[in-house]
Amino acid sequence: MTEQDFIPSGYEATATSGSFTWRAPSNIALVKYWGKRGEQLPANPSVSFTLDACATTTTLRYKKREYPDDDFGFELYLDGAVKDSFKPKINDFFHRIGKYMPFLKHYHFTIETSNSFPHSSGIASSASGMSALALCLMSLEQEISGNITEEDFFRKASFIARLGSGSACRSIRGELVVWGSHPEIAGSTDLYGVAYPGKVHPVFRTYQDTILLVDRGEKQVSSTAGHGLMHGHPFAERRFAQASENLSALQQVLETGDTEAFIAIVEREALTLHAMMMTGKPYFILMSPATLDVIRKIWSFRKETGVPVCFTLDAGANVHVLYPESEKEAVMEFINNELVAYCEKGHYICDRIGGGAVALP
Ligand code: DP6
Repeated sequence: MTEQDFIPSGYEATATSGSFTWRAPSNIALVKYWGKRGEQLPANPSVSFTLDACATTTTLRYKKREYPDDDFGFELYLDGAVKDSFKPKINDFFHRIGKYMPFLKHYHFTIETSNSFPHSSGIASSASGMSALALCLMSLEQEISGNITEEDFFRKASFIARLGSGSACRSIRGELVVWGSHPEIAGSTDLYGVAYPGKVHPVFRTYQDTILLVDRGEKQVSSTAGHGLMHGHPFAERRFAQASENLSALQQVLETGDTEAFIAIVEREALTLHAMMMTGKPYFILMSPATLDVIRKIWSFRKETGVPVCFTLDAGANVHVLYPESEKEAVMEFINNELVAYCEKGHYICDRIGGGAVALP
């Protein structure tokens, strides 16, 4: 497939007004996407667990305009309140996807969105948010296109979501999603996310992710700016190759259920992501002292008990604690006894691997 394949040849039907609602999950990368090229194409392949509890629900109301306009027409609401500060981002998104969804300028939209996770929790809502919006737009495209197969629907939804936020293309379907072309992963492409095609051991099908909200503040550096720091970064090329190698190695780990090898890859990926930021120009430290304390506690707990619990990080201070479902009781006890103290206001979110986005009535 190429980008051209996502440009529709025309629409068969019209739809005057109506609405669609989708709930789309967040995701957590095991092998990280960090660095991009061209129009939202990844510099290296990545793979993520689709989450379940952390999600965005978006309703797209559409009304056909009497005459198409040169500008995109839309209003935005977050939790029922007008959110004009999101408008430039959505406007850019519409510009980027306009050629693939030529109907956009024929409609006026009202976009109502809400997140399951608290405001300013430091949890990125761009993956779930862009995924939910892309799915709503696809539902409208489906309505005016006659038939789109289920496969084409979700493929294009991921393609469109990617143009909004790279990691959003991994937030369409469950459970493990690969984005970025990798020679050993059949069907993998830079254009959209695909379900991980390899064998997955049952232990990884019910993995748990407890997200410790260590720092609920605004991000010091946006993901988009962070990706930019990989341009001209002295370690960039080696890092991109390493991500591919880690994805290669992860395949056998996923198949055999080797949690020890899983931990070694996932924690190293998280720390490499932060190492890239610490060695960029300019450089950033996005971990907080509490992040480091939590990591140390996880390491000693794992050493003392043999429980295969590990951490991963996004481009921020919050810690994702990953572990098999069978260890839930032990890990939750550990979190409540030893880690809650590092969470702002004691807040954490219990999440797990999930099945992907769902359309709501
Ligand atoms: C560290 O997808 O948020 O979470 O494409 O600029 O919107 P944009 O960036 P974004 O980057 C996410 C980076 C990451 C790692 C990952 O999810 O793979």
